[in-house]
Amino acid sequence: MSDEALSNLLREDRRFPPPAELAAHANVTTATYEQADADFEGFWAAQAERISWGKAPTQVLDWSNAPFAKWYADGTLNAAYNCLDRHVENGLGDKVAYHFEGEPGDTRSITYAELTAEVCQAANALTELGVKAGDRVAIYMPMIPEAIMAMLACARIGAPHVVVFGGFSAEALATRIQDCGVEIVVTTDGGFRRGSPSPLKPAVDEALLECPTVRNVLVVQRTKQDTPMTEGRDLWWHEFVGKQSTQHAYENFPAEHPLYVMYTSGSTGKPKGILHTTGGYLVGTSYTQWATFDLKPDTDIFWTAADIGWVTGHSYLVYGPLANGSTSLMYEGTPDTPHRGRWWELIEKYKVSILYCAPTAIRTFMKWGAEHPEKFDLSSLRVLGSVGEPINPEAYVWYRHFIGGDRTPVVDTWWQTETGMHMISPMPGVTEGKPGAAMRAIPGVVVDVVNDEGVPVADGEGGYLVVRKPWPAMLRTLWGDDKRYAETYWSRFPGAYFAGDGAKKDSDGDIWLLGRVDDVMNVSGHRLSTTEIESALVSHPKVAEAAVVGATDETTGQAIVAFVILRGDAGDGGPDVVTELRNHVSKEIGPIAKPRQIMVVEELPKTRSGKIMRRLLRDIAENRELGDVTTLTDSSVMHLIKENLSSSS
Ligand code: WTA
Repeated sequence: MSDEALSNLLREDRRFPPPAELAAHANVTTATYEQADADFEGFWAAQAERISWGKAPTQVLDWSNAPFAKWYADGTLNAAYNCLDRHVENGLGDKVAYHFEGEPGDTRSITYAELTAEVCQAANALTELGVKAGDRVAIYMPMIPEAIMAMLACARIGAPHVVVFGGFSAEALATRIQDCGVEIVVTTDGGFRRGSPSPLKPAVDEALLECPTVRNVLVVQRTKQDTPMTEGRDLWWHEFVGKQSTQHAYENFPAEHPLYVMYTSGSTGKPKGILHTTGGYLVGTSYTQWATFDLKPDTDIFWTAADIGWVTGHSYLVYGPLANGSTSLMYEGTPDTPHRGRWWELIEKYKVSILYCAPTAIRTFMKWGAEHPEKFDLSSLRVLGSVGEPINPEAYVWYRHFIGGDRTPVVDTWWQTETGMHMISPMPGVTEGKPGAAMRAIPGVVVDVVNDEGVPVADGEGGYLVVRKPWPAMLRTLWGDDKRYAETYWSRFPGAYFAGDGAKKDSDGDIWLLGRVDDVMNVSGHRLSTTEIESALVSHPKVAEAAVVGATDETTGQAIVAFVILRGDAGDGGPDVVTELRNHVSKEIGPIAKPRQIMVVEELPKTRSGKIMRRLLRDIAENRELGDVTTLTDSSVMHLIKENLSSSS
């Protein structure tokens, strides 16, 4: 973000105090902060009581082998039991866990008793396929209930799940399966998107050509498209899972038993497998769903409009909401199918009271216009959440006004795949909201903003965001790479967790997030690394070299802009070279990684040590005057690029 944009942001002076009614009955009060500050471990010991343990933990945090944390280490539990059976035992069997709405309009309300029975069937099915505790299962599915059932079935038998976003390519799926040594894949024939069925299973078939560790594929029938099935390997879910018993005796696992691995982009080409474990993760997600959204499990209808392929789906569509015994909405499709008011129609229909989505969605709705939400009754809403990227003040105020009817607090939640749970957020019954600011660490979390030397900055200054103390839902390591874990997160500022985000404290000490300080981009709230896309580009036979930058974009936050140098034998690449390269990236990674713009150039600006100067490329991508070029090997390169571009456009 430019300095000018930043200082405009920090001049934002609209304030939104908590609604009196909400504050009067709020889950979190100023006393909650005081308790957490006074006794960190005592606070987290108390939060652990949200969970039903097989053996209750006597320890809270074990940090003796830092940065490898153990939380509640001597406790045992079963995550699926905590999300399902115990609510049934407590008389909530008939309560709806999910209202599912498919894109074509098919619906299904699934009670806790029904979900428990189906998860037991799926757990029995996985066991019959030879899956044991510790074995990895990949889930590559659209947003349908069976995806959640598959996750919980894995959790029930202690098999870490690896959910891969359904929009990723066969290639991306294969890399993750290989890195994690996956043995079983759960998928579907396809899903519904933008009004038509789109196939998914063929991508699995393609990926598995390179994945010898996979024994079986379970295929949910969603679209009823013609789907090739490989004899002896592929099984239909409705047949194989459907025939299983609805009873399954669960086992309690140690608190630190792995729950799942989720791949996310880091600043190198290879995605990182973030490992989350069971006890601390369930405590952290259930506590934060309750705290940040002021959740009242008996009455709220909660909607996390995020895909289960991202951490937001894991923590706030699945584990947090189910551990709390709350009712959620799950929606399969896109927001403009069949019309641009679909979300608002759903909120009216299901009386959604808490909505959690990304700023990029809000900005899209702003673009479509207020006339769409205005057609529907949104009075059931009482808290609105935002996640994934900084929310610009205009989007915040629009969201609060047109969706929240000026009644609802907006909670801007900062967190990461790595953190597993919310870390910085207003508390709706306590915090006076400032549009654009994530405000303060939540009770029980300790963050800071530090300078290059690791010294805390004064109010009014900016620096790097760090987390000072471990937290229960933190990642435990990177799958198979303890060294990279320690280096990436714990070496930049010894003793503190380095988040990779820039941040600023305003004059009140409240925190504003300023975006990534590494080579990670945030496109529509999705994390993508510049190097990952550069590798995809150079894997094309016509490309010699590539540099990718994230340029500011009004709707998607950042947009991918690529600069490529073609190989000598590729000539000018032909008239369709840009389309060809865009499609290539989409095939290698997925459509979300398609560059908005690809510029074919003769040379790239490099420092004397050979590093590509992305800052300068960003200036071009954002049509700015060129910044300082003195460290370039050849400062005329930039002018050449600029001239070429202006003569070719
Ligand atoms: C960014 C998503 C500003 C940030 C839950 C972080 C945010 C990355 C916010 C993690 C927010 C997330 N304000 N920036 N409220 N929330 N980010 O792993 O750069 O997909 O490091 O987790 O998104 O993205 P991830």
